[in-house]
Order: sequence, then C-alpha cells, then structure tokens
Amino acid sequence: MSKGTFYITTPIYYPSDKLHIGHAYCTVATDTIARYKRMCGYDVMFLTGTDEHGQKIEEKAKAKGVSPKQFVDEIVEGKGGILDLWKLMNISNDRFIRTTDDYHVEAIQMIFKQMYDKGDIYKSSYKGKYCTPCESFWTESQLKDGKCPDCGREVHDAEEEAYFFRLSKYADRIQALLETPGFLEPASRVNEMINNFIKPGLEDLCVSRTTFTWGIPVTFDPGHVVYVWVDALSNYITALGYGNDKYNDFGKYWPAVHMVGKEIVRFHSIIWPAMLMSLELPLPKKVYGHGWLLMDGGKMSKSKGNVVDPYLLSERYGVDSLRYFLMREFPLGSDGSFSNELLISRINSDLANDFGNLVSRTVAMVIKYFDGTLPLERSSDPIDDELIGMAKALRDIYEQNMEGFLTQAALIETFKVISRANKYIDETAPWVLAKDEANKARLASVMYNLLETIRITTTLLQPVMPSSCEKAFAQIGAVEKDKAWDNANIFGVLSANVTVQKGETLFPRIDLEKELAYLDELLGGKTEPEIPEVPTVTIDEFAKVRMTVCKVLECENVKKSDKLLRFKLDDGSGTPRQIFSGIAKFYKPEELVGKTVVACTNLPPRKMMGDESNGMLLSAEKDGALNLLMLDDTVPAGSTIC
Ligand code: MSP
Repeated sequence: MSKGTFYITTPIYYPSDKLHIGHAYCTVATDTIARYKRMCGYDVMFLTGTDEHGQKIEEKAKAKGVSPKQFVDEIVEGKGGILDLWKLMNISNDRFIRTTDDYHVEAIQMIFKQMYDKGDIYKSSYKGKYCTPCESFWTESQLKDGKCPDCGREVHDAEEEAYFFRLSKYADRIQALLETPGFLEPASRVNEMINNFIKPGLEDLCVSRTTFTWGIPVTFDPGHVVYVWVDALSNYITALGYGNDKYNDFGKYWPAVHMVGKEIVRFHSIIWPAMLMSLELPLPKKVYGHGWLLMDGGKMSKSKGNVVDPYLLSERYGVDSLRYFLMREFPLGSDGSFSNELLISRINSDLANDFGNLVSRTVAMVIKYFDGTLPLERSSDPIDDELIGMAKALRDIYEQNMEGFLTQAALIETFKVISRANKYIDETAPWVLAKDEANKARLASVMYNLLETIRITTTLLQPVMPSSCEKAFAQIGAVEKDKAWDNANIFGVLSANVTVQKGETLFPRIDLEKELAYLDELLGGKTEPEIPEVPTVTIDEFAKVRMTVCKVLECENVKKSDKLLRFKLDDGSGTPRQIFSGIAKFYKPEELVGKTVVACTNLPPRKMMGDESNGMLLSAEKDGALNLLMLDDTVPAGSTIC
C-alpha cells in the first residue's frame, strides 16, 4: 500500500556543453533519494530535464553555425547526450522536461501573464553599464578596473526597457519561510540566504530581456523574452501539468522537494517561492542545497589531471561503483574533493574487498560445504548475537539518515554491518567447522547468518547500486519478498533451505597504479601541438580566426616533454591565458619572458600533458628553423590582429 506521494526534482541542466561528474553527482543523489522513497512504499514522481533557453546557448549555437534548437537537440537527445547519460547511469526519473517543449512554453506565457495581471510584474527600465560587443549589462561593482569583466573592453551607461517582478513585496514572507525548520537544508544555508540576500534588502528582479531572442516571448510584448530563471524554475510545475494539458497530476504531486547545488539555492529558496506566492500556489516542501565536487579546491575542470567525464568513468569502472563512490565519499551537504585516485581506492576498499568479497566468500562456502543448498538443521551460538543484532537494527538507523538526506552516513552504517560480517567469518572459522560432520548444524547457522546479513545490507544498498544488488540477490538465492523494505529489519526471512548460485565477481579489484597511469595517458597522451596546414580560405573564414597580441608573463619547460614550453600570457583580459607551444628546441624559457607575441585565441581548449592549452602561439618556420612571431613591445596586450 502506498504511503502517499513524494515529488523530487533535480535542477534542469544547461545543455550548453557535455555534463561532467559534478552534474552526475546531483542527479545520482536525487535518484538515490527517489529510489529509497519508492522502496519505502511512496508513490514517487522524480523529475529531471534541461534548461535550454538563454543568451549563452544562442551564442554557442551561432559559433557552431547551427540553430539554437539544433544545438540543444544534439546535446540532449544526440548520441552520448544527456538522455543517454542518464540511461547509462540508471537514473530512474519518471519524467524529463525540456524548456523548449511546447506545453512548457505555453504554460510560461500564461504564468508570466498571470503575474503581470496581478500587478506583480511591471514595466520599467534597466540601468547599468553596457558592453556592446558582449551585449551585457553590468553593475558598477561587477566591472573589472571599470571595464567589462568578460572581455575587458570599455562599457558605457545604458538604459533598457524591461519587466520587473516585485520580489521586494514578498521579503517578509520569504524570510519567515527561510526560517521555517526543514524548509531549507542543510540548516547552514539559511543564514547564508538571510545574511547575504534578505538583510541587505530584496530588490525587484528584472524578468525580461530584449538583447537576444532565444527565449520564450512575452505574449503581450513580443520584443521581450522571459528571463531564463523564470522560465526554468517554473518547470517544476509545468511538468505536472500546471498551465497546460499535457499532464494532469499537479494536484497529486505538488509540492516538491528540490535537490539543487549550493550556488542556485538563492533562486530556489527566495525567487521561486516568491513566484509561487504571486501565483498563490503551495510552496515547495524542501530545498536541499548540496555541496560541490571540487578539484584541487577549485571548480571542476577537465584541465586538472583527472577524468571527469561520467560516461567514461561509468563505462570503465561500472555505473554502480561510480554511483556508490559519489554517495559514499562526500557528505551531501558539503563540498568534496574529487579525484580519480579516491574513486579507485573507494571501489577497491569497500566494494571489492568488503561487500563483493563477503558475497563471493559466503556463496563459495555454501557451495563447497553444502553443494549450494543449506540443510535445515541449525545450532546457534552467543557469538552470533552481535552480528544479528546489528543487522536487525540497521534499517532504522539507515532510515533516519536517509530521511535527513545523510546518504553518506547511511552507507557508512551499512558498511559497518558488512565489515562485522567479514569479521564474523574469521571468528567462526567455517573451514575449521567443515572438517567435522558433527558441526554441520553449526556450520549451516553460520552460513545462514551470513546470507541474512547480506540480504539485509543488499536491500538497503539498492537505491545506490540497483543492478549490482540484483546480482547479489541472485547469488544468495533471494526471491522478491526477501528484497522488500518491510523485511529489512527482520532476521530470518530467507528460506531456511535456500539455494545459492555462483555468479560473476560483483566488483573486480582495480590495480590503482596501472589505472592511474592509464588515465594519465588518456588525458595527456596526444600532447604535441601541430601547426595546422593552411588550405585556401575565404575572407569570411579568415575573419573567424581571432589573433591576439599577448605579453609573456611566465614561460617554463614541461616535465617529461622535450618539445613543449608552458606559457602564461597576458592577453589583455585580466586573466592569464595558458598555452603550450612545441618550441622548446628553439628557445630557452627565460629568453621569452616579457616578449610580445601573437596567439590564435579562439581555438577550442586542448589537453596537453594532462593540462589545458588555450590557443596557439604563432611562429614562422622555414627549412626546419623556427622563429616565434614577436612584435614591437609597444603594441599593447589584448590588441587583435586584423
Ligand atoms: N540551469 C540551471 C538550473 C535551473 S533549475 C530551475 C543550472 N544548470 S547547470 O547545468 O549549470 O547546473 C545544474 C546543477 O549541477 C546545479 O545544481 C549545480 O550545482 C550542479 N553542479 C554543477 N557543477 C557541479 C559540481 N562540480 N559539483 C556538484 N554539483 C555541481 O544551474
């Protein structure tokens, strides 16, 4: 019987690039909670999707020479795209929404109009500093040395007509909501929101744009498109049929629990509830702001010597191993440091050594001592009590943790029982018992206690490792009822004369050193920059190449490469640019520091020796001699060659 409904959502992802392990983390966490709730008996609705409008996508599509819709279609639905990734990772979402879906577009137009009719959206003008080439407004405080923080160029005062949402009107109600226990978790995020956003005063929010067109037009003023966050946040209700006829279960499932990354907590715990207040709809049940996976203390990036492609990691190490690692290694509410080494070590220690080994040893012993089927005779011993007690108590401890989204703690508790079972094997020494036929009943008890412990722990591991748990269940001879939540706090559920089955190794051990060398190779293998051949080009093609004057800030040899030099360049943007160049044979690094050089700066980033190269230095070559192109030092950094 259903315990009621439970609606949980992930953020909808920007299909502007391939997703990385940080995105997968957020989805796996949500999937784990959704599967856990289903297992407990809830009627779960689990929603994920993609946030497809906005200027960034428009620009990326333009750069690729395709329409924005073609661009997002490829990333979402194309081979190896987001849908494929979630399928591969065994994500059990019930629905997938794309903000370009017709029913969503229609609903957004209605929602915007509804807030406008209510007087919560009004027309005014947006004043700020405008960067024409970037088509972006900035506030004074966002500028870098008085210039555009993105491109470093001059900005000017500008004013643009826009619609605003009366966020300020809801400030008191939002503060009360934030202070409601359980609404925003972990609790530490509440103060963050109140101190950073409520106390300084909530300002009305600009909710339309006229500087680009890839968005949902405002029906009553079509030169404006709806601000992408108003469009995106509303997905949580349009996907249930609010404002459209496509679905009809808004009444059944709303309100939701929103799982989101910490940087978008503000949108979910302040702006979104204010929109719902304006629409006079029930507020979300909970917003959970999870931490970030970081690399070397910084943001996730391909350039830091670790493979972060969830596709590749899933395929190489197994989906369940990756899912387990993500949920076990990091406490959900805090940031965590990701590395391939941690991933492999965790798989080896917990899955290969502890869990996998417990299953394979137990099954192998039942086969060896009893031909695979336990006899009915039993003989208990006080030494059994601790293991049985721990196994029986586990479900409640696990439940308590999972209800608080403490997924890591739930797994740690489960593995305490798994380790206890491994110790129990050493304590009871079945191989000694097996030497004497008189111990048959005792040996059968030991085996049964192990199988039951495996059954209970496997049941509780299902939300994190669904397919491996199925395999483990098959090996211990568990049938459907043995896998049920309702039986996870009872000891003695498996049939007394259960038959086990030898199966494949659940989690093969990985050779850490070899594997890290392999991944390194994968990242830095093809290291040498090639100066491309120059075919005939049209003037339009030539105009696409951005050549920028740069000053050499730093230059050094690259370890293990006799060809490469690593450059840090001032390209006028304010952020140093790293470029690798294969000219080590021709120059000593120290000769080049301070020189004025030219780089092609709109090549895609390229992996070299495990690091990222962002562009290519221009050189002149003849008969094997090479000269780096150098300009008069009076030419300023950031000048473009035209
Ligand atoms: N489109 C918006 C969300 C709109 S929801 C109405 C967005 N998209 S995103 O693709 O940039 O990010 C989606 C989620 O991925 C966010 O919750 C974000 O925190 C999460 N992550 C992105 N990088 C991450 C890590 N390195 N680590 C953990 N989560 C991270 O924001």
